[in-house]
Amino acid sequence: MCGIVGYVGERPAQQVVIEGLRRLEYRGYDSAGIAIVASDAGDDGAAFGENAVQKRAGKLANLEKALAATPLPPATTGIGHTRWATHGQPNDANAHPHLGERGRVALVHNGIIENFAELRDRLEADGHVLRSETDTEVAAHLLELEVEAGHDLTTAMQRVCRRLEGAFTLVAADARDGSRVVAARRNSPLVVGLGEGESFLGSDVAAFIEFTREALELGQDQVVTITRDGAEITTFDGTPAQGRRYHVDWDLSAAEKDGHDWFMRKEIFEQPRAVADSLLGRRGVDGRLQLDEMRLSDQELRDITKIIIIACGTSFYAGMVAKYAIEHWCRIPVEVELASEFRYRDPILDYSTLVVAISQSGETADTLQAIRHARTQRSKVLAICNTNGSTIPRESDAVIYTHAGPEIGVASTKGFLTQLVACYLLALYLAQVKGTRFGDEIDQVLGQLEAMPEQIEKVLALAPDVYALAREHVQSRSVLFLGRHAGYPVALEGALKLKELAYLHAEGFAAGELKHGPIALVEEGLPVLCVVPPRGRDQLHDKMLSGIQEVRARGARTLCLAEEGDEQVAPYADELIRLPRVPVLLQPLVAVVPLQLFACELATALGYDVDQPRNLAKSVTVE
Ligand code: F6R
Repeated sequence: MCGIVGYVGERPAQQVVIEGLRRLEYRGYDSAGIAIVASDAGDDGAAFGENAVQKRAGKLANLEKALAATPLPPATTGIGHTRWATHGQPNDANAHPHLGERGRVALVHNGIIENFAELRDRLEADGHVLRSETDTEVAAHLLELEVEAGHDLTTAMQRVCRRLEGAFTLVAADARDGSRVVAARRNSPLVVGLGEGESFLGSDVAAFIEFTREALELGQDQVVTITRDGAEITTFDGTPAQGRRYHVDWDLSAAEKDGHDWFMRKEIFEQPRAVADSLLGRRGVDGRLQLDEMRLSDQELRDITKIIIIACGTSFYAGMVAKYAIEHWCRIPVEVELASEFRYRDPILDYSTLVVAISQSGETADTLQAIRHARTQRSKVLAICNTNGSTIPRESDAVIYTHAGPEIGVASTKGFLTQLVACYLLALYLAQVKGTRFGDEIDQVLGQLEAMPEQIEKVLALAPDVYALAREHVQSRSVLFLGRHAGYPVALEGALKLKELAYLHAEGFAAGELKHGPIALVEEGLPVLCVVPPRGRDQLHDKMLSGIQEVRARGARTLCLAEEGDEQVAPYADELIRLPRVPVLLQPLVAVVPLQLFACELATALGYDVDQPRNLAKSVTVE
């Protein structure tokens, strides 16, 4: 949610900042802007004139067009922003950077400054003219006042941050001092990149991965000053602080499309690798499951009497699958809760409740606030996260990292599959530690998980068939998804993918619930995608077939995903996609893949931007 870039070095700042924004555009694409400190700027009376700031509503391409027409002067210091609008329309005036009253300070922001109205009123009473409807502009004015009062930019930033409430990452430059860029963070992401004779700031490492892999993680409520020589960190009250240095181990190609039309499509096809990577190193020398980042002791895990999983969107659906697995394998009661609802219902928590927060980005504000609430109630928090150094794992007691690599497409795909893997691993680990009756099967399930990359490859080989099917539905106005058991969250995820990418009415239902109301939606020709459970000892499969017959009898066109060899489903399926045979609890890993491909292709056929669907942003850092 909003991408932020800062640079000080020897390269042309415009190029570095625009390249960084391109890689962060998935975080927001309502507008984009850049400010540079011109190399020939004097230290006397200089301000960011029109020739040093450019910003445009819409995608980055609009800004690039403007820059091609009117290039910025030579500079090696700059800041940039790509916006997901919170306060104010996505127009040129509200685009960042924002300037102080005299144009001396330029500032970009991610997050929400909650007390901005009060600060704006005071500034206006003092004669300031604010030119945008954003909450951000007040910070630019306040910062400039501090600088004009004689404080250096770092001190000025510390003083301003002490007055701000809410969540924010701020990055600022002073038109009279090209030697530094100063940033601050509270509850919003920011990382530092350290190169030779140059330093970078970014909302995530994608912003500078092309130039350096050495990164510095900041803590909460810290200010960082970057210069050509490196970075200096302090707290908001000026006390020196240390960041955690780390090496980014994914390479540039992970942030490129590699010949695919969309990042999302590339990421769907990366799933076998992402799943394999997320399973890597999970077996100890004795063959038993090990989770290295699990910082909770066996005794702490044995003491758990209840688990609450909190997450949003796609990650929430991964949590729903986890509930089936944990309850079945470990016999621990599990609740799954939308993070945005969690703390407002006064949940019953104590030291024996384990809260599991699932977040691909590790920055989702709803989830972050939920875990903070859980910790105040003495519950232990375990994060399942794909982003090293992000806030949620840092504020959790334990973490299981997924290894999906960077997910750039706004709609989560490989993030989801690897979250499922982490959930299964957690369930198996708890079963191992607790010694449940399921214990003897852990090794077998682990083996089945290890075979999953191959099974997912088989599903990906069906892509041309799924694409053809998707293209047949460009005229559809509505699509339903049905599932049962672990297939129910898959149905919900399939519907979410279609909604967010193809802007279609799409709804997922538990197939058994259909007859209690939703079946009234079924009419002649309505496409209904059915996730058929594998045949097993229980009656899930047969009950699902009844549901399929019920909708078909009312004119629905049934598109069924069913395992190889399931001949019973064929008579009721207008279209049939074959899934590899896998156990019911693991079926989401293969069943969701055709639904991702379906949504991606349908949206492409409709001419929509699959990587950057309207109104959305990756990593939602506001509540
Ligand atoms: C949908 C999607 C979102 C995210 C949700 C949570 O395709 O990507 O629903 O799953 O915003 O994000 P994280 O997992 O980063 O907390």
